[in-house]
Amino acid sequence: MAKPMAAEPRSKPAIASGAGGPLVFTLGSWFTWTAIGVALPALGLFLISVAGSLARGAWETLPVLASTHVATLGWVTMMIMGAAAQMAPALLGARIRGEATLPYQYGVFTLGALLIVIGFTRGQLTAAAAGGAGVALASLWFVVLILWTGRTARPTAAMPAHLPVAFACFGLVVLWGTVLALNLWREFWPGLLAEHRGVVVHLTLGLGGWFGLMVVGTFYRVVPLIHGARVASGHRGLAILLLVMCAIFAIFAGVAAKVDWAFRVAAFLASAALLLFGSEIVHVLRRRRRRAGDLNVSHWYAVAAYSAALGGVAAGWGIWPMRSDPPDRLGECVVVLFLLGWVTQAMIGQLYKITPFLMWYYRATLQDMPTIPHNPNLYRPRVGDGVFWSSNAGVLLVTIGIWERATSMVQVGAVVMTLSALALAYMLAYRWIPSVLSGRLPFQWGRRIS
Ligand code: HEM
Repeated sequence: MAKPMAAEPRSKPAIASGAGGPLVFTLGSWFTWTAIGVALPALGLFLISVAGSLARGAWETLPVLASTHVATLGWVTMMIMGAAAQMAPALLGARIRGEATLPYQYGVFTLGALLIVIGFTRGQLTAAAAGGAGVALASLWFVVLILWTGRTARPTAAMPAHLPVAFACFGLVVLWGTVLALNLWREFWPGLLAEHRGVVVHLTLGLGGWFGLMVVGTFYRVVPLIHGARVASGHRGLAILLLVMCAIFAIFAGVAAKVDWAFRVAAFLASAALLLFGSEIVHVLRRRRRRAGDLNVSHWYAVAAYSAALGGVAAGWGIWPMRSDPPDRLGECVVVLFLLGWVTQAMIGQLYKITPFLMWYYRATLQDMPTIPHNPNLYRPRVGDGVFWSSNAGVLLVTIGIWERATSMVQVGAVVMTLSALALAYMLAYRWIPSVLSGRLPFQWGRRIS
């Protein structure tokens, strides 16, 4: 067994080529690689280009819609699909059902998402609607494979109830998004466009149901396990699920019956869910066993901070004093804080634990496999610290810039976010390439998930 290491080596390792076996690029990595290596840096560039529209409050323009869907489909949904595919065997004790179809599912989803983004960017709504159909097909395909895998899992390894509900919302949001795109193109349902009704339902399903419940369910499934700490109470997780589901139904009722108070009820329910979740995160992290530096912990603390801020804003909006002029501006800030802050921090944080991607970084820098687990900062690669601070600074600058209508501040925030995305991409998606090209690390394509 090799000796434990004091720090990451700066010089070329004295290990013979291939000492740890080949670096295998498996099927599950296709999704995570695309999300980290392509979509997140692209999102930064899109944000820089739409900074002026964001600051003006023009959030429904087509270029902003393109940026939104680079974030929701390219970055977050791709990441979730990759992580779910790779972690299912470990967490559910079952291989992904229909694994052989995943390369095709990946192809249909990626092409569909690309068509949506190109369609919105160029104002070609036919292309956006066609892309929506492709994304909806690939998403439903994925949902069926995961739920089928869940059914055959070990009884003790069940998914938290948040996850099946999240997957159901995933299916619905992509179908609804496709209807919205068709409606923008053909205008067959004018009522959807009035008072943003169609988009409010879409946001509720996508941000609250799909991303929100996925993050909460992932937290309950893996974070207590990896940190060796118990949650405060099993009932709290269930209460969060019920609060979110009631908030979703309250919004649907508000949209259908056009009653304003239903939205305020939803705001209080969402606020309670966020505050409960934030306190649960802090409870678990404070009781973790391992005290060594761990970016997973830092990112979850950031999620707790965003939960407190968003919970406060939701309650403030529910009891009136919190308003903006125009009213949409507050909503724009909330979506930015939630999508680029809350959700994105949870995604990046989990990378340090639940995908084999961190291993890629160490294989490219250390290569000697047996020494990797002895690295004292295994879960805290140096580049990751910079990513943590810059991703949070960027999102705060963008949010404050939108609130203050300051285009230059939104631009600076977007540049900072782009730099953080490029650093993450370098660390996890590209850092291994020079080692492979120079022949120091053998490479292999793997036709299995992970
Ligand atoms: C994970 C799935 C999705 C999420 C979380 C999501 C999220 C969002 C968000 C946050 C917005 C509002 C942002 C803005 O106006 O800039 C939006 C608007 C929109 N989305 Fe999606 N989206 C998803 C999938 C889709 C799909 C597959 C399509 C199909 C083309 C689509 C079509 C649309 C359309 C047409 C609008 C504008 C509606 C309007 O303003 O009336 N979305 N989406």
